[in-house]
Amino acid sequence: MPEFIPVLKQDDIQSSVAALGRTLSADYQGRSPILIGVLKGAFVFLADLIRHLTVPVQIDFIRTASYGDGTASSGSIRLTKDVEIDLTGKDILVVEDIVDSGLTISYLINLFNSRKANSVRVCALIDKRERRETAVSVDYACHVVESGFLVGYGLDYAEEYRQLPDIYHLSP
Ligand code: IMP
Ligand code: MG
Repeated sequence: MPEFIPVLKQDDIQSSVAALGRTLSADYQGRSPILIGVLKGAFVFLADLIRHLTVPVQIDFIRTASYGDGTASSGSIRLTKDVEIDLTGKDILVVEDIVDSGLTISYLINLFNSRKANSVRVCALIDKRERRETAVSVDYACHVVESGFLVGYGLDYAEEYRQLPDIYHLSP
């Protein structure tokens, strides 16, 4: 049986998400960014985050694949669902659950820049630095975690545990 070691409690997550919402609302004052959630993991974070924003936003989703049912990146990124909004000239905020190797986020930054976005920034619930393979800037992170495979609050292991309100380190 895997062991669930608590890492972030619901209250800590909620207060960091609210604080990020205030920061983004100030930083994007007078603009109306497009928030692009990276499916599936970011849907819980995105849903909570947008309710703390005081600037007008549009929401879209994108989906990439790199992980199978394992816990390490396969290294190659594929786009399996594209956005539907035209990004030309827009301010893009990519919303990720967790940045690990950084390969997904650097792929997405390049993609959105190639579509002539006005700006592309990244916000992540968790910046996990242990396995970073590419120099990528996470502009906004709610939490920095050094290592471990995490589940809960949208994060899955083999599609399970996304519904948990707290975040746990899944120890094999
Ligand atoms: P990266 O391309 O290695 O940065 O990984 C990005 C994706 O891998 C994230 O969007 C997650 O979906 C998944 N991932 C990375 N670390 C974890 C983890 O600890 N738990 C669950 N999913 C993870
Ligand atoms: Mg993800």
